[in-house]
Amino acid sequence: MAVSDIVRLTREVAIGAWMKPRPFLLYLKPTARCDLRCEICSRWKLPSSSATELSLAEIEQILVKFRRAGSVVLTLWGGEPTLRRDLPDILAMAKGMGLRTSMCSNCNSLYRKADRIVPHLDVLLCSLDGLGDVHDEMRGVRGLFDRVVRSIEAAHRFDRCDVKIWATVHSRNLHQIDDLAAFARDMGVSIEYFPVSLIGTYNDGTLPSREALRDVFDRVAELKSRGYPIRNPDRVLDIMGGSRPFSCNFGRIAIHLDHEGNVYSCEDPEGNPLFSWGHHSQFDPVEVYDSDLFEKVSSGLRRCNRCRLPCSVELAGSLGRSRTSFSSRSPRRRRRGAGPGCG
Ligand SMILES: C[S@@+](CC[C@H](N)C(=O)[O-])C[C@H]1O[C@@H](n2cnc3c(N)ncnc32)[C@H](O)[C@@H]1O
Ligand code: SF4
Ligand code: SF4
Repeated sequence: MAVSDIVRLTREVAIGAWMKPRPFLLYLKPTARCDLRCEICSRWKLPSSSATELSLAEIEQILVKFRRAGSVVLTLWGGEPTLRRDLPDILAMAKGMGLRTSMCSNCNSLYRKADRIVPHLDVLLCSLDGLGDVHDEMRGVRGLFDRVVRSIEAAHRFDRCDVKIWATVHSRNLHQIDDLAAFARDMGVSIEYFPVSLIGTYNDGTLPSREALRDVFDRVAELKSRGYPIRNPDRVLDIMGGSRPFSCNFGRIAIHLDHEGNVYSCEDPEGNPLFSWGHHSQFDPVEVYDSDLFEKVSSGLRRCNRCRLPCSVELAGSLGRSRTSFSSRSPRRRRRGAGPGCG
């Protein structure tokens, strides 16, 4: 990323986060389809079809509208965003509008498409919770781990893209926390850890105990201090481990759209909207962001405690830039970007 772009984006993030807080983070699901069968996440079970997805032209309208209203960072997720055929076009369009682009992917098939997708990405969040069978079994698909490795290698070839592993901490990978940090180091990428969020009885068996979580995040802090490429800020590790309170800013600084164009403030870990604003075609962001209702909704969400995703926790209370400790064994390319957490 050019220095002038970094300066511009940093300025826009500062305005959106501190000076006049408003949703500068735009979360868009290009699809709700999913190609895995994860035990921590039930989204793969939801009915989904490409027939009801936003068209490329609609996505363009959305990006133009939200960019004008102050969006700075676009994060694509889902569902699995790489299942969308025109993903490179969506990302290229966003880049053309001056947005910082980020995508969270299960990396099941990214290695096959990386040449078309990654050149348009500033940040790639690769979901990887364990090595070998630990990952495959939790995600319900054999051979996935090997494909994630190939995807990371393919993405890492593109110098402009900051590749981060997103590792959910659950009951079955507690013994692989060190291995994951070493894996990230050896692959030349960074890693962020975060606890699994409860989805009722669907995944309650995957939640570690309070004590186990505290121990894991103490261990992550130690690994970080020893130079492993762990990107969670120290303050965030305390929140993730449960030893520091958390007040969520996401209602004020983020806005979400699903694959059909419905706008909402945030969603619970199962994917249910926490406050719906209706369809994008009827939604005027500038008017809504200035309204009393928006103030009421975003203030109410400060008490929400449903997740601990790195993007929201990093922005809890203040805009925390990741303080990364890199040693000589750390990724060969360290990039500085304008975006926090997922961007
Ligand atoms: C919902 S997924 C969507 C993007 C893509 N399908 C993927 O798996 O990366 C976004 C992120 O949420 C994480 N995740 C899924 N279920 C979770 C849960 N119950 N608690 C915390 N994180 C979860 C995934 O591992 C992934 O990093
Ligand atoms: S975590 Fe991602 S890949 Fe797994 S079920 Fe949820 S959406 Fe699908
Ligand atoms: S805690 Fe999580 S689910 Fe609740 S508002 Fe914040 S980001 Fe959304």
